[in-house]
Amino acid sequence: MTINNIQSKLSTRIQTVEGSKTARFIPLLDALKRQGRPVISLAIGEPIDDTPAPVIDATKRALDRRETRYGDMAGLTALRAALAGRFEGCGPENIVVFNGSKQALYTIFQCICDPGDQVIIPVPCWVSFAEQVKLAGGDPVFVRTKADHQLDLEGITAAVGAKTKAILINSPNNPTGAVYPRPALERIARLAVEHDLVVIADEAYDFFVYDNLPRFSLYELEAVRERLILTRSFSKHYAMTGFRVGYALAPTVVAAAMVRLQSHLTGNVCTFAQHGAVAALAMDDGLLVRRREDLQRRRNLAFDKVSAMFPCIRPQGAFYLFPDVSGHLHRGETSGDFAARILEKTGVAIVPGEDFGKDGHVRICFAAPDDQLLDAFRRIREVL
Ligand SMILES: Cc1ncc(COP(=O)(O)O)c(C=O)c1O
Repeated sequence: MTINNIQSKLSTRIQTVEGSKTARFIPLLDALKRQGRPVISLAIGEPIDDTPAPVIDATKRALDRRETRYGDMAGLTALRAALAGRFEGCGPENIVVFNGSKQALYTIFQCICDPGDQVIIPVPCWVSFAEQVKLAGGDPVFVRTKADHQLDLEGITAAVGAKTKAILINSPNNPTGAVYPRPALERIARLAVEHDLVVIADEAYDFFVYDNLPRFSLYELEAVRERLILTRSFSKHYAMTGFRVGYALAPTVVAAAMVRLQSHLTGNVCTFAQHGAVAALAMDDGLLVRRREDLQRRRNLAFDKVSAMFPCIRPQGAFYLFPDVSGHLHRGETSGDFAARILEKTGVAIVPGEDFGKDGHVRICFAAPDDQLLDAFRRIREVL
């Protein structure tokens, strides 16, 4: 069969879905490194810290005990119980463990979307939301955030229609670093109750909120709990990105539906990796507090340098800056062209804003060593 022939056999569904745009930087960077170029990646959303020793030890011990078999499809009982204990009124039956919160989100859309159902997504937004909604047969409906990256509550209200199934809220936000305050989340909760909508809360960065701002989860609003599906992850907080352990918290019927899907998909999440996650939860919060302080310091350093070059809103959470580079675009240049120019000329990888649904901006990950941050910003400044 020729390549053209076999290509025509691909489903329309997969042909209309784009691969993760941030992941495409990995082979590109590897290629530059192989050429001997001094590259600095500020493109991938990954903490630089080591995976904590107790996590590694617990994972090794699980392997030594030969915890290498199929496991409970909803996740290890011990892990679900420990997670449920962190949410008032929640039991293990409300928790499902997934291969990262990415798979949790994919599963949510598969479980709630019928063809044509709409999911409201504030943009700019993380690269996978829209593609995951499309893979579930749904339609993403984008509502721009305001100039300060906060939610446009009027815009979201106006976007609600007969086909709206859910509103997705990601706070702290990737790519902008915005943290939505309680009153804004209360408005979303009221809107969802009024129009009988599902609320999806992606809290992959929930602990990383800076400047002593309160960490506020939609889960704290009791009125919305019966329609709330929340996802969190071990990836960013515990530097466990390769473990692939995340989870969803959902009303019992939704959790059961997600487990039904899981039973045909991956069966269960890697058993010994889940033992590592149990160990992560058993650690006191001191480690996370120190990591948050360290990230806040890097945020300050990166923000100082970047805001001297571009207009930039100071991020309050996560580990990204999302400056406006439109003043530096050559005629006809997109943020994608700009990021490619920066990579080519400086060896610094950043992600174009258009990948997150907002041109004229770029995303810069500041979870990098200080010397690399300073070197990267010096190189970019020279090119500008
Ligand atoms: C907003 C957001 N949600 C979810 C994820 C998925 O993370 P993981 O699958 O590692 O839990 C990411 C990863 O970058 C993210 O930025």
